Amino acid sequence: MKSCPFSVLPFVFVILSLLPAVFSDLNSDKQALLDFANAIPHRRVGLIGSIPSNTLGKLDALKALSLGSNRLSGSLPSDITSLPMLQYLDGQHNNFSGDIPASFPLQLILLDLSYNSFTGNIPQMIRNLTQLTALNLQNNTLSGPIPDLNLPKLKRLNLSYNHLNGSIPSSLQGFPNSSFVGNPLLCGRPLKACSLVLPPPPPTSFSPPPAVPYKSSKMTLSMGAIITIAAGGSVLLLLL
Ligand SMILES: *[C@@H]1O[C@H](CO)[C@@H](O)[C@H](O)[C@H]1NC(C)=O
Ligand SMILES: *[C@@H]1O[C@H](CO)[C@@H](O)[C@H](O)[C@H]1NC(C)=O
Ligand SMILES: *[C@@H]1O[C@H](CO)[C@@H](O)[C@H](O)[C@H]1NC(C)=O
Ligand SMILES: *[C@@H]1O[C@H](CO)[C@@H](O)[C@H](O)[C@H]1NC(C)=O
Ligand SMILES: *[C@@H]1O[C@H](CO)[C@@H](O)[C@H](O)[C@H]1NC(C)=O
Ligand SMILES: *[C@@H]1O[C@H](CO)[C@@H](O)[C@H](O)[C@H]1NC(C)=O
Repeated sequence: MKSCPFSVLPFVFVILSLLPAVFSDLNSDKQALLDFANAIPHRRVGLIGSIPSNTLGKLDALKALSLGSNRLSGSLPSDITSLPMLQYLDGQHNNFSGDIPASFPLQLILLDLSYNSFTGNIPQMIRNLTQLTALNLQNNTLSGPIPDLNLPKLKRLNLSYNHLNGSIPSSLQGFPNSSFVGNPLLCGRPLKACSLVLPPPPPTSFSPPPAVPYKSSKMTLSMGAIITIAAGGSVLLLLL
């Protein structure tokens, strides 16, 4: 902590895009990161515990936040999910619980909250995320119906291994059955037909999403300048 405060964040990967107007906010961003570092215990196994609000949620120029594969728990603060510039949010493989916050910026491109302990419904608000290309919520404890996600750019969807019920909306019936398996109360194409008790979804026309391969690991962010706090604890400042 004394020599380099950021070296205690080996498991957080934060990318900030710095627009000229944001330079003046650099000190408050630094303070927000220090508050986060001080509040979260960090061991060799990763970050442990819950994320306090008013820490990462204050990084209002943040475009991509990856907290994946730590041991974070508790609720996911809505000030993080509603960061105004956020495009990529990856919280997979933690133990977040509670509801998925129903607040996301409209330009969100990727949302991965898979392998956690989220409960409650999938927020209807996700229907408004027209830029979304990937939605991964598999291996949680989500219940209720799947919202009718008529999202033109959605290429990758995984809602498997939850407690979702009802019929699969027609807008999503072009995804493979592996997008929905492990939800015994879910029915309709591409899973088993709904019983007579559950009326089948109306046979409206739908167009299956094109089978474009998903390249999350190769996603590139075109940014003028970035701050990266990467594994190994190094701090890299690229200020153009
Ligand atoms: C994950 O969180 C849930 C709910 O808070 C808790 O019951 C469970 O024990 C936690 N699991 C692990 C592996 O920590
Ligand atoms: C989603 O979009 C609809 C229609 O544009 C709007 O009425 C609704 O308030 C939006 N919901 C949220 C949570 O932004
Ligand atoms: C996801 O859930 C399925 C079904 O419960 C289970 O077989 C699989 O091991 C889980 N994956 C992980 C990484 O926990
Ligand atoms: C889905 O489950 C909820 C309870 O979680 C229940 O109220 C609702 O009626 C169920 N819907 C269907 C279509 O089975
Ligand atoms: C999923 O689809 C594959 C191939 O289309 C099929 O072999 C498999 O039985 C299906 N699984 C379920 C659970 O429907
Ligand atoms: C969804 O996740 C499960 C693991 O829980 C995996 O078996 C399945 O192949 C995934 N489906 C898709 C479409 O990625």
